[in-house]
Amino acid sequence: MNRIFSGVQPTGNLHLGNYLGAIRNFVRLQDRYDCIYCVVDLHAITVFQEPAELAASTREVAAAFVAAGIDHRRSIIFNQSQVPAHAELAWIFNCVARLGWLNRMTQFKEKAGKNRENASVGLYAYPNLMAADILVYKATHVPVGEDQKQHLELTRDIAQKFNNDFKTELFPLVEPLIMGTAARIMSLRDGRQKMSKSDPSDYSRINLTDTPDDIAQKIRRAKTDPEPVPDGSPAGGTPESRPEAFNLIEIYAALADLDHARVIATFGGSQFSTFKEALTELAVTTLRPINGEMRRLRAAPDHVDRILAEGAGRAAAIAEPILAEVQRVVGFVRRR
Ligand code: TRP
Repeated sequence: MNRIFSGVQPTGNLHLGNYLGAIRNFVRLQDRYDCIYCVVDLHAITVFQEPAELAASTREVAAAFVAAGIDHRRSIIFNQSQVPAHAELAWIFNCVARLGWLNRMTQFKEKAGKNRENASVGLYAYPNLMAADILVYKATHVPVGEDQKQHLELTRDIAQKFNNDFKTELFPLVEPLIMGTAARIMSLRDGRQKMSKSDPSDYSRINLTDTPDDIAQKIRRAKTDPEPVPDGSPAGGTPESRPEAFNLIEIYAALADLDHARVIATFGGSQFSTFKEALTELAVTTLRPINGEMRRLRAAPDHVDRILAEGAGRAAAIAEPILAEVQRVVGFVRRR
């Protein structure tokens, strides 16, 4: 069976965008792949994290995985730092990847901003660690969003250069898994910005831990325009001319697992107040079970820690023999 690896950073609140854009697909992929889902705490510390918050966020992401329906007996759920093979392979990849390749990474440029000199070395080498995450399991497929495609290309380049340099076929060339059902969810305050945990306004996003009242309030206050719901006709506008209106349609379609066209056929031409009521109802019913389970798990950190520990054990059992193979190929004398 083909193997999936994907990672989510434990930095702050998980929101509807994370759920509809990634985690819900992780759940679905379990039927067709062996899946490894990692809370990437090593990646998180490429920018400073308050230790207590890092620990809380790590448990929160693991809880969200479980609450959303990832079966921790079938799939593997663990946090990255607890399987040392990731960091060990990342070092080797630091020596395979070229400065020129990393210099092209757009995410580093965005995250480092103007003050490049002050960015951590870890932030720069981030993509090499991501390549190690994937290749230490010889994963064949990685579900990723648009923003991670360049990193996945780099992973392929690293695998290829390693295989060439050492005249081996050890690493597979991973394929991105473009998820047909993955939704691109934008901010409720600005339809041109992605829904994000770093947006200063909590009204820009629906968090997975929001209560039904929170959700209702946020949807009621979500930005729209004075026109009725787009009806598919030219007069109804386009996602470019009415990004907020189309974002709410996208959210409804994703939550209901319907095509946009179906949503537009049902609600096109109605007032936004009516559509927002229906959307609230749908969001609340869809998120209620996840929300409830997350609250239950938040009250049971030991249970979450056991899931992570058991997952780390199973992950290490796959990664260690592959790392040993890499070490032999590189020429490291192994202790017995
Ligand atoms: N860089 C990814 C993100 O920020 C997280 C990540 C780390 C990842 N390692 C990975 C994703 C390996 C896929 C595969 O979203």
